[in-house]
Amino acid sequence: MKNTLKTTFALAILLLIGCSNDSESDLIEQIDEETVVSYNATIQSVINNNCVACHSDPTQNGAPFPLTNYNQVLIRAENGQLLRSISRQTGEARAMPPSGRLPQATIDIIEKWINEGAVEE
Ligand code: HEC
Repeated sequence: MKNTLKTTFALAILLLIGCSNDSESDLIEQIDEETVVSYNATIQSVINNNCVACHSDPTQNGAPFPLTNYNQVLIRAENGQLLRSISRQTGEARAMPPSGRLPQATIDIIEKWINEGAVEE
């Protein structure tokens, strides 16, 4: 009986360790397997939250073009500028957003969106 209890405890602890470790990367794997990334579902809010303070229409703070709708973002996705700018390291010239690099998981989602054809919905 004592041993059974010990084994149960050990298993419970192993389970806890296993579950508490589901990091952002696991969430990304789920997206990879099951979901096509779309502008409407995912990309628009990332851009709104991180870019449109400057890339508004009209632009502010010296941003060179707006990123307020699908077509404006698509142009920069297709010509490579979008991924290049967010891939630069914080502090590098033309790293976007200038205040600091997005989390790698977010950059990965944008890259996946572009690789899948940058669909709108
Ligand atoms: C604080 C204002 C600000 C924010 C926030 C911002 N940008 Fe910019 N962005 C600029 C400015 C200013 C430039 C022009 C920089 C230059 O040419 O040196 C620029 C340039 C760019 C360029 C052209 C870069 C190049 O390589 O020529 C891209 C693409 C871009 N931004 C995308 C983004 C994206 C995507 C985000 C959000 C993830 C973002 N920006 C957030 C101000 C901003």
